[in-house]
Amino acid sequence: MRSHECGAIDESLVGQVVSVCGWAHRRRDHGGVIFIDLRDRAGIVQVVADPDEKAAFSAADSVRGEFVLRVSGRVRPRPPGTVNPDLPTGAIEIYAQSVDILNRAEPLPFQLDEDDVNEAVRLKYRYLDLRRQPMQLNLRLRHKVITQFRNFLNQRDFVEIETPVLTRSTPEGARDYLVPSRTHPGRFFALPQSPQLFKQLLMVSGFERYYQIARCFRDEDLRADRQPEFTQLDIETSFMDEREITCTMEAMVRSVFKDVLNVDLPDPFPRLSYTDAVNRFGTDRPDLRNPLHLTELTDLMGAVEFKVFADPAKAPDGRVAAMRVPGGAALTRQQIDQFTEFVKRLGARGLAYIKVNQPGQGRAGLQSPILKFLPDQVVSAILQRTGAVQSDVIFFGADRARVVNDALSALRNELGTVLDLIEAKWSPLWVTDFPLFDYDADAKRWVALHHPFTSPRLNDVAQLQRDPAQVLSRAYDMVLNGVEIGGGSIRIHQRNVQQNVFDVLGINEREARDKFGFLLDALEYGAPPHGGIAFGLDRIIAMMAGAESIREVIAFPKTQRASCLMTDSPSAVEQKQLTELNLKLRKSDNNPA
Ligand code: AMO
Ligand code: AMP
Repeated sequence: MRSHECGAIDESLVGQVVSVCGWAHRRRDHGGVIFIDLRDRAGIVQVVADPDEKAAFSAADSVRGEFVLRVSGRVRPRPPGTVNPDLPTGAIEIYAQSVDILNRAEPLPFQLDEDDVNEAVRLKYRYLDLRRQPMQLNLRLRHKVITQFRNFLNQRDFVEIETPVLTRSTPEGARDYLVPSRTHPGRFFALPQSPQLFKQLLMVSGFERYYQIARCFRDEDLRADRQPEFTQLDIETSFMDEREITCTMEAMVRSVFKDVLNVDLPDPFPRLSYTDAVNRFGTDRPDLRNPLHLTELTDLMGAVEFKVFADPAKAPDGRVAAMRVPGGAALTRQQIDQFTEFVKRLGARGLAYIKVNQPGQGRAGLQSPILKFLPDQVVSAILQRTGAVQSDVIFFGADRARVVNDALSALRNELGTVLDLIEAKWSPLWVTDFPLFDYDADAKRWVALHHPFTSPRLNDVAQLQRDPAQVLSRAYDMVLNGVEIGGGSIRIHQRNVQQNVFDVLGINEREARDKFGFLLDALEYGAPPHGGIAFGLDRIIAMMAGAESIREVIAFPKTQRASCLMTDSPSAVEQKQLTELNLKLRKSDNNPA
């Protein structure tokens, strides 16, 4: 249909007759002459329809925005003064000899070059939204990133293998999406939260190196960086320890950043233990571009009169920590009130502070509502430990450690943005030495911090039972600019260890057999030592694209309420389908049946 792409027409073609196809991006009527900017995937070219070419002109005259056209004509230089240096095709135009309207278009619900289109409208007309240049670039970037990941892994003898989507529950900590079975009444498939168990079984099968661009499904609370279905780059290896796996994986990420963005990530990535990360930043996914950090004060505060600090300092799960903000003494009362409200929304009870106006002048040089409650030596220890200097402010958190960490780590991010402290660079790191278990105080039981197949650090299975809190795992997370982009571990490959971990998690033999019998069996037939990782591809690509949300790099994403506005799903189904599936809906407002 066409001899050239719109974006490929340049001065070398002047004098030649070409045919191009595309969409009428813009149409302008200049006193008798009609100009159409014709757009295809390669770019935009200007078409001129002159009344002298009667048929072409009359067709061009009826063209409206986003009509689909085929244009033939001679390439000619634009007249002097009308050259557009911003367009690759800006020095030429096509003098139309024929304009065929291949299809018409209704007026669009939004303009393609509009900036602030409501997201609900964009999602409803996603196929139009995807015509927009930024979305075209994002999805092309996505393709390029995935291609580079594949290239790296293919070169190292990894095999791409697909695993089932209709399967049984794979616990990754979220709720399952269930699919009722017609052929087995009352039974359900679960969509995989990850291919975790299948990739471990592929190691038992002897593939040694597996990967998959895998769709995962999790029914969980959604945020900007979470979708109910998302894509992992899922990887598993045999006979590699955590050092070898993390080194290979960071080499992979480095090579993708180099190839796609021409960015040199550090070699090696820094490493931080979970404990150090939480102590220093209040989170296991710190943004290391932010210079702020926490200072431990718990040991200082046990004996002070100020109960707000003394009580958590004495409690076994309490923490008192400070965060010094250089130059922060300039914050106004109103700003500090806003930050106080900010941490209160995260569960903190307040945000004590000390402004350092004149250091070296004792209390007189400080300004703070809590100073009167603290003895001299504690005040000077705070200044000394935090390294406070003139015009700093020191913020305090005192509560259960979890509350303090949540509040101060979020405040750290907030201050980083508000005060413009974040350095413009890429800052990856590994977080390692996670605890194997986490205590769920509400449910009063131990849960796996990663997933139940993660190997403990020790091989003394008795300690698992004796003191679960102290057991470290062989897990590792990759964090980039404060976002967890990947996580994995060395797995348990011995059946007795797996059963011992299940015991701590309160999964008894019968339940373990029922849910994971196939895995336990497989571990008894020569399972090699193995481990792997999964990367959140949407998150990595969104960051590389500079996008605010992973929805910007997914062709057809769901809303924050886990629905698709374009197809209007989830949707009601026919009674007949329910009957076939042996399902009966409960009566409710939404469901008058
Ligand atoms: P994990 O649950 O940490 O590990 O998931 C791996 C990575 O997937 C991304 N991710 C998400 N991205 C978008 N939307 C979501 N709802 C979402 N949930 C997770 C994150 C995360 O780091 N089977 C293990 C991996 C392993 O042990 O090998 C797993 O799934 O970037
Ligand atoms: P109060 O004695 O409640 O007036 O608190 C004195 C100061 O301590 C105020 O600035 C509060 O914001 C702050 N504050 C109160 N509770 C906490 C807490 N748990 N952690 C940190 N600061 C607090």
